[in-house]
Amino acid sequence: MICLGIETSCDETSVAVVKDGREVISNIVSTQIEIHKEYGGVVPEIASRKHLSNIAYVVDEALEKANITFSDIDYIGVTYGPGLVGALLVGVAYAKSLAYALNIPIVPTHHIEGHIAANYITYSNLKPPFMALVVSGGHSHLIHVKDYTEFEIIGKTRDDAVGEAFDKVARVLGLPYPGGPEVSKLAQNGKFTYKLPKTKFDNYDFSFSGIKTAVINIAHKEGEKLRKEDMACSFETTVCEELINNCFLAMKELGIKRVVLAGGVSANRLLRKMLQETAQKLNYEAYIPDLKYCTDNAAMIASAAHFNYISGKYYNIEEKLDLNAKANLKICD
Ligand code: KG4
Ligand code: ZN
Repeated sequence: MICLGIETSCDETSVAVVKDGREVISNIVSTQIEIHKEYGGVVPEIASRKHLSNIAYVVDEALEKANITFSDIDYIGVTYGPGLVGALLVGVAYAKSLAYALNIPIVPTHHIEGHIAANYITYSNLKPPFMALVVSGGHSHLIHVKDYTEFEIIGKTRDDAVGEAFDKVARVLGLPYPGGPEVSKLAQNGKFTYKLPKTKFDNYDFSFSGIKTAVINIAHKEGEKLRKEDMACSFETTVCEELINNCFLAMKELGIKRVVLAGGVSANRLLRKMLQETAQKLNYEAYIPDLKYCTDNAAMIASAAHFNYISGKYYNIEEKLDLNAKANLKICD
């Protein structure tokens, strides 16, 4: 079965052609990073407008690269949340119109399910159950993936998402948007010399606003004397330790021995290394997505859509003409 995946939840217009949920035939990602860089972050209205002017071209390119035509598509998978509502609406409206014109089913797809599914593309044999450590610009979740379409949230951030904290710390250090990769690059030349606060709750939740505020306060206090490389290294290490410790503690206590990394921050060099090393020590299985599927892309959305499709979670378009975008969509909805 051929799925056309559409992703427009933030600042990437992406369209992919994926066969049977695992075989990526094409995956076009048109990023708006250069436009938003000027403002130090994503400007929602600009993002929506760019998606609108880009989407038809990105669809054409995805079909052309896959060497197929509209009539070869069996169904459409589209991100309908969570994300920036104006950005999501562009993808959802396009997907509905196309599904109607072609008279094919539509699979409304959760963005985080997509990030998790990036691992199904990377590892053709990977099957649930497993624990997913989901770390992106908008989310930090520990999710027990019981089956392809069955999820239980084990823990989540109580305030900032990890990627959001990386982006804010980058700003304080004078680095451009998106800050995560920049902080990580700088950290490679630094030492872990700043002691930063960690949080611990009586469940598996995370918190990253305390550490972010600590970085801001130290930066203001030290001014020119701030050792930026050391701060980047201290921040990255502290955050990764918090994520890894919490994730493996939950796994040990719940008896889960397979872990999957997902979301934009899964591109982080140190986090990837720590996850693999910790899993190896404990004799657990660890999966980390191919770098090109870490940040937002439509191939992961088409993969998640496939598993929903085969479990019957799809709609004939006439039944779903009222499909809307949901900015705060929960994974268990
Ligand atoms: O998943 P994603 O593309 O978008 C959302 O769904 O939010 O994640 C984007 C986030 C940004 O905050 C970016 O700074 C962060 O992922 N990121 C990284 C790295 N690459 C991207 N954070 C830390 N280290 C990286 N190498
Ligand atoms: Zn994302």
